[in-house]
Amino acid sequence: MRTGRIYGTLLPMQKLKLGVLGSGAGSNMQSIVDAIDKGELDAEIRLVLADVPDAKILDRARRHGIPCQYLDCAPWKTKLEGPAEDRCIQLLKDAGCEVVVLAGFMRIVKPKLLAAFPMRVLNIHPALLPAFPGVHSWTQALDYGCKVAGVTVHFVDAGTDSGPIIVQKCVPVLEDDTPETLHARIQVQEHLAFPEALRLLAAGRLSVEGRRVRIAPGGTRSCASETVTSEVAP
Ligand code: GRF
Repeated sequence: MRTGRIYGTLLPMQKLKLGVLGSGAGSNMQSIVDAIDKGELDAEIRLVLADVPDAKILDRARRHGIPCQYLDCAPWKTKLEGPAEDRCIQLLKDAGCEVVVLAGFMRIVKPKLLAAFPMRVLNIHPALLPAFPGVHSWTQALDYGCKVAGVTVHFVDAGTDSGPIIVQKCVPVLEDDTPETLHARIQVQEHLAFPEALRLLAAGRLSVEGRRVRIAPGGTRSCASETVTSEVAP
């Protein structure tokens, strides 16, 4: 964990040039695409890479005409390292990506990728970090007996789900929740949180002091229960 170190203010970026890494359904990528299409986010997705050949995120990218491809990460199952990491960095750089979005990417990224995009790798995690890092965090929250759960968007550092927090949003845990219903409620907030974090980055409103991400005035931020309905296809 990095503490007490000032990273500094992140400068405004004209238009975010995004590279997206994913493994699954791609609903978070969809929320970013939708925010761009609605004019709510000044960004373009230059490339989508998936470590699963038939991941739905690739279908979504194709439907939107976004360049995409499968990234073979063998021999490792849980991390992006070695030749696959080199190839990933090269592909992202060749596509002109300046910011890397981990949108349901089920691998640990390593220092080489982080060094290639310093303070420009963002992850979304379906829990109120630092509680419940790792996998199936909504089930962990339910099993623990939490009354509130949520989502975190954070800068990625060398740890697992441990980087400085940009945006968090909360949802209630209901009496009759199952892991599936709780995850679905969290995902509604995910689809708001990622575009929000990227908007703040694009506007140059983020500065990082140690673990703390400060948000300059100019809009709203939230850590509140929300009841909006997601428009992102599941
Ligand atoms: C999300 O719950 C995200 O928080 C987690 O993996 C899931 C990905 O969902 N890291 P999707 O592929 O974006 O639909």
